[in-house]
Amino acid sequence: MFAGAFLRKVLVHPIDTAVRRFPAARERWDGFKRKLKHYRKLEYFRWDLGKSRRHMVWRATDDSYVKLSAELLYQYHKLEKGLCLTDSTRFFGKDAARAVMHVVTRWRQAGHPRTDRVYVGAIESLRSYRGKLRPLHLPDADGDSVLLDIDVILVDEPLRPELATPVPFRPSADTSDAFERLCQERRSVRAYSPTPVDQGLLERAIGIAQWSPSVCNRQAWRVHIYRDRDQIARLLHLQNGNGGFGHQLSTLLVIAMDSTAFFDATERNQQFIDAGLFSMSLILSLQSLGLASCCLNWSVIPAHDVRAHREGGIPENQRIIMYMAVGHAADGALVPRSPRRELQNVVTTH
Ligand SMILES: Cc1cc2nc3c(=O)[nH]c(=O)nc-3n(C[C@H](O)[C@H](O)[C@H](O)COP(=O)(O)O)c2cc1C
Repeated sequence: MFAGAFLRKVLVHPIDTAVRRFPAARERWDGFKRKLKHYRKLEYFRWDLGKSRRHMVWRATDDSYVKLSAELLYQYHKLEKGLCLTDSTRFFGKDAARAVMHVVTRWRQAGHPRTDRVYVGAIESLRSYRGKLRPLHLPDADGDSVLLDIDVILVDEPLRPELATPVPFRPSADTSDAFERLCQERRSVRAYSPTPVDQGLLERAIGIAQWSPSVCNRQAWRVHIYRDRDQIARLLHLQNGNGGFGHQLSTLLVIAMDSTAFFDATERNQQFIDAGLFSMSLILSLQSLGLASCCLNWSVIPAHDVRAHREGGIPENQRIIMYMAVGHAADGALVPRSPRRELQNVVTTH
């Protein structure tokens, strides 16, 4: 900050003054300054890098709930997937099963709840895996030892049939018209009534959106709900797309992603992808329950991001992806037509 001000004083301002009377030189100098401004913003990637380095590396010593539950999901999802494949004549998933048992052991040692759905999902996956492979009698001594280890892990784990895996796929025929209407009627609303949003309805919408897909089912999305008008105003002050309607909001969401759920930089884009999928489901879900919404971009300078974390009580390891305005649309609310492109401009059939 200081260096920038200094450079402006000793370099930029004197050149500004010197070129003022020479239009061609001034134009070139202004062009150079514009370019410089864009390049300086690449600095934000360095800030991203720091965040990723701090939060997106799974450390073997980290036994926090967030880390272990993400690792458990990541590992046992391999078993779940294998159990759904039609080719069942090979002994699949030995390494994954061992990895799951290793994390289960650490989970127990760390004292995390054994009723937690992620944990129970892992246990039931191990149970199904054992159930599928044991009757195959495949000639694999190493595989046998894995099954015996699973016996030990499962010894005092109660059956939870409601979380047993896998389950039959149910095709959702006859929903396309309703879905098309939902997609077409969902629009970004920028005129809200003062009627507050019912907390139960909001939670229902979020619960529906939780059915969104995510990498290895990690579900790293986190939703922060704000109801206090002053706090909402302070958060909105940091965002540049709510002019003219932000003051009407009695509910604001911040959609964030827990970066700790991602094992390393290979997954650097995944949090944005999963957050996008979740947010899409959420706005459709809100619409289906009679509520209105508007996504609000989080294209901000790092300093604003830091302030929003502080203002919103959002842990540093959670990456803010976007804000979301939620409410009841004002009577007679208007929305832009926002036509969509012709299909041929979007689709390339190869
Ligand atoms: C990630 C994202 C950020 C957005 N940010 C803003 C915003 O800051 N302010 C705003 O008024 N609309 C915002 N929008 C809404 C878009 O303008 C809107 O989705 C688009 O114009 C299409 O219109 P529709 O949502 O009504 O179909 C955002 C949308 C997305 C997906």
